[in-house]
Amino acid sequence: MSLKSVMASAPGKLMLFGEHAVVYGTACIVTAVDQRLSVKITKNGKDAFHLEAPDLGLSAYSKTISDLGKKNLPKSVRFIELLYKRFLEIYPQKEGIDVVTKSEFSSSFGFGSSSAVSVAFAYALARLYKIKFSKRELFDLCYQAVIDVQGVGSGFDLAAAIWGGTLYYVPPAKRVEKLSISRFPMVVGYTGVGADTPTLIRLVASLKGKKNKKVDEIFSAIESIVERAKGSMELGDWESVGLLMQENQKLLKKLQVSSVELDRLIRAAEGAGSWGAKLSGAGGGDCMIAVCSIGSKSKIIKAIEKVGGEVMDVGLGAEGVRIESS
Ligand code: PMV
Repeated sequence: MSLKSVMASAPGKLMLFGEHAVVYGTACIVTAVDQRLSVKITKNGKDAFHLEAPDLGLSAYSKTISDLGKKNLPKSVRFIELLYKRFLEIYPQKEGIDVVTKSEFSSSFGFGSSSAVSVAFAYALARLYKIKFSKRELFDLCYQAVIDVQGVGSGFDLAAAIWGGTLYYVPPAKRVEKLSISRFPMVVGYTGVGADTPTLIRLVASLKGKKNKKVDEIFSAIESIVERAKGSMELGDWESVGLLMQENQKLLKKLQVSSVELDRLIRAAEGAGSWGAKLSGAGGGDCMIAVCSIGSKSKIIKAIEKVGGEVMDVGLGAEGVRIESS
């Protein structure tokens, strides 16, 4: 029986270790968060693509199939539209689709709404048209869309959305290893300032252009932290994980990607007894993470809030992409 409608959802992500260096090929550690983005697609019997994405600030967006990818696309639809265009090039279809997205998290937190939306959308398409994608094939299709839209990116966020859990990741999905971690003694604080990832990636590229040797040394040091952090996390040695976060943060500061707000929240968390804290993701704003003992958690939360941070209530190591209904 042919399906008419499918809904899929995918989780957001939080980078734990290795940002920026991962863009140049080294490993990182990323975890999926338990806030999800869902995409419902329905065959519409027309030569048209309709999109309703209220959480991405878009409603009643419409295009004919032959116009897909043409003209200036609003940022919020770029991923979905270009992904759909690529999908149809490989798997042509007679009729278009209506797409409705719904997010449990604000796109401003840096939890990866574009990666989650791309993965949930591609997974729903595969189910709707009964195409058997391996996780790796799903990754390749979505990664192409990231490159089409952003030009750069390690794909770590797509991996978190696809595989879920906490991953040791070598780009672009050359190695995806699920780490077995049962609890996360961490606090996540939002600075209140949204960050633009491609801008920060360019900033690091420009620094590397000027000081190649120094930046390469920083990347090697980050690479070594990721390896040690993997071991410490698997052992549940969170005190060591915290110290590695401190080390990683110092290197991110040398890359000039931290910010006044991030530094303020990190200092507050460490002053309140955190074993170590760092920015998470591209930097410039978005979120920081702090490792803590159970006993110090509430003190750290209060300290982050006192200096203007918003503590996010998120579970880590969440399930990857899944079908919600079909
Ligand atoms: O800003 P976020 O959370 O999307 O993280 C970006 C992490 C980078 O390493 C800077 C970029 C990437 O694609 O890996």
